[in-house]
Amino acid sequence: MNLTTSMMGLRLAHPFVAGASPLGRDLDSCKRLEDGGAAAIVLPSLFEEQVTLAIEGRIRHKDPYDERSAASLRHFPCEHDYAFTPDQYAEHVARVRAAVAVPVLGSLNGTTSESWLTFSRLIEQAGAHAIELNLYEVVADPRMSGAALEHQIVQLAADLHEFLTIPIAIKLSPFFASIGNVVLQIDRAGASAAVLFNRFYQPDIDIEELHTVVDARLSTSDELLLRLRWLAILHGRVKLSLVASGGIATPEDGVKAILAGADAVQVASALLRHGPGYLATLRDGLDAWMQRKNFSTVNEFRGRLSLRDVADPSAFERAHYLRALQSWKLETPAVRQ
Ligand SMILES: Cc1cc2nc3c(=O)[nH]c(=O)nc-3n(C[C@H](O)[C@H](O)[C@H](O)COP(=O)(O)O)c2cc1C
Repeated sequence: MNLTTSMMGLRLAHPFVAGASPLGRDLDSCKRLEDGGAAAIVLPSLFEEQVTLAIEGRIRHKDPYDERSAASLRHFPCEHDYAFTPDQYAEHVARVRAAVAVPVLGSLNGTTSESWLTFSRLIEQAGAHAIELNLYEVVADPRMSGAALEHQIVQLAADLHEFLTIPIAIKLSPFFASIGNVVLQIDRAGASAAVLFNRFYQPDIDIEELHTVVDARLSTSDELLLRLRWLAILHGRVKLSLVASGGIATPEDGVKAILAGADAVQVASALLRHGPGYLATLRDGLDAWMQRKNFSTVNEFRGRLSLRDVADPSAFERAHYLRALQSWKLETPAVRQ
């Protein structure tokens, strides 16, 4: 079977990429990711707050030692809580790059198009094959419009494109009124890939202790369906590569993402759960499925279940929604009583 694929111009031996996670923090575990079968490795992020704290001594334009900023900044990690300083991050990129043969992507995580972004050049100079920009932001200010946020995101993509010669992937949130339009805009701004989607860490509430509980829960396959929808809608309608991220827990999930239109598939939770060797399980599972279905290349079935040839995808989605509701049968005894 020929499992090769192309993601943002990078040739990959197969579609399964190690997504940004703590597994990319040290050289040893990066080697384990490669040995485990990763087609490429996305390193964990360098955060905007880290860079502005190291360079300007400020977070979100505020001095953490100023009493007036204390309330809004007290929840941020301290400088030494991060795995790397910004300079160490660039060194890490260079060391990983030298130690593994697969493509290595640096990752930036932030929300503004400001000076910290110039740091991306150091990551490029350190040898990263590409950069992924994670735009994690919960817009809690009700006065901020969706249009203003989208403008900011597109500007970030355009600025990064101007700074760098290596390809840029943008990891997006699914929470836009028109996701397709945002992807189209970042495509036009010069991004080479859209990573669909970011996962939002949602605090729970402990009703005994009366406090909020914040933790990074690992995903399950349930989260994949949202990704499948947008991969299917966007496949064939944008120039950039489409990368699935979120809820790839089994080889079958990877097959589904490619059938929907993914060029590559990132995995984080499944690797934290089963270890780097799970990448080989994913790859071999894809290989076995292709043999069973008589496909000899990934291109033969990529996007086979996308909406590329559907004239009006919105009508298609609406029709399926109506059919799903109408097909519900009131069969469980409790409901019939
Ligand atoms: C513990 C943990 C750490 C993560 N760190 C990062 C990070 O540094 N940068 C980033 O862009 N995404 C990070 N992610 C998000 C993953 O890269 C991925 O987008 C998300 O978990 C969805 O994929 P999954 O369902 O395969 O886990 C992290 C996820 C987990 C669980």
